[in-house]
Amino acid sequence: SDPHLVERARAAKARLGDKVFVLGHHYQRDEVIEFADVTGDSFKLARDAAARPEAEYIVFCGVHFMAESADILTSSRQQVILPDLAAGCSMADMASAEQVAECWDVLADAGVADVTVPVSYMNSSADIKAFTGRHGGTICTSSNAQRALEWAFSQGEKVLFLPDQHLGRNTAVRDLGIPLEECVVYNPHKPGGGLTAEQLRNARMILWRGHCSVHGRFSLESVEDVRARIPGVNVLVHPECKHEVVSAADHVGSTEYIIKMLDAAPAGSAWAIGTELNLVRRLAKAHPDKQIVFLDKTVCFCSTMNRIDLPHLVWALESLADGKTVNRIEVDAETEHFAKLALEQMLALP
Ligand code: 13P
Ligand code: SF4
Repeated sequence: SDPHLVERARAAKARLGDKVFVLGHHYQRDEVIEFADVTGDSFKLARDAAARPEAEYIVFCGVHFMAESADILTSSRQQVILPDLAAGCSMADMASAEQVAECWDVLADAGVADVTVPVSYMNSSADIKAFTGRHGGTICTSSNAQRALEWAFSQGEKVLFLPDQHLGRNTAVRDLGIPLEECVVYNPHKPGGGLTAEQLRNARMILWRGHCSVHGRFSLESVEDVRARIPGVNVLVHPECKHEVVSAADHVGSTEYIIKMLDAAPAGSAWAIGTELNLVRRLAKAHPDKQIVFLDKTVCFCSTMNRIDLPHLVWALESLADGKTVNRIEVDAETEHFAKLALEQMLALP
């Protein structure tokens, strides 16, 4: 990256000192990760943000829903900054507050809302988290989805899982042993979600029809191809991948899990990784003694994660150092109250 920008980022951070705390998600560019005080998956970063009450500014190098969650979990004195406001998440955008309210009405009409517990993936807007908190549910991330579902099924007969159908299905079937037939998909673009009342009554998992545009592109063929190309390869994928991909893989887990798995892998072992490309490239560089390949060469970066680049980070840090707040992410008080209930439920999971 541009040495001049690196120098400016360093200088701005030094001027800010302890006033700023920079968080970097594992999918961020190398040039950004270099300036992160901590890196992590979405669960770790949510906890890390909450554990820094002395920092006036939390600069979140990640996507919008992560910055919102950090704002909810930090004190109102602290300001959460997203270096580029266009860093959203296509999956989070697949569930709007209106659509989810309508879905809840559909469940009520079918007579199942009272026995349904909402579980929402961290990758959702603050509005969806507030809906979840209002209805006694919990947030989950890819590293605690199993515990979240187990807890939810101790509270009710059914789970409405938002917005990632793949994480919901993979966790229900693989980790809880729920039969595939007991998972139905609610399509917000169809009347009644495209489901009959009877289907809703028979289902245990009601999956929102959302997906990640990056992980959704890994295919069963990509797993078969890499196994043919590299005999003995270990296929390690993120649970946002389709069920057929996850079923064909050797290991499944969050970004933090993927990193730990490779740290523990023996020298000389071969790995094909199905997650975002910035992380896979960094892992390959960090482990020259192992063969680490990207599961499918036709899949690329998460375009919104990549919007946070060094020029945006430098601009945000220099503005803050000059006393000017830019790109603050602030969740309104009512939304925050209910979203916090659901986030705190997650943090309290056994
Ligand atoms: P984790 O960091 O929780 O594994 O999530 C992956 C992701 O897609 C974040 O956007
Ligand atoms: Fe959203 Fe997928 Fe990008 Fe994560 S990788 S921010 S889920 S689009």
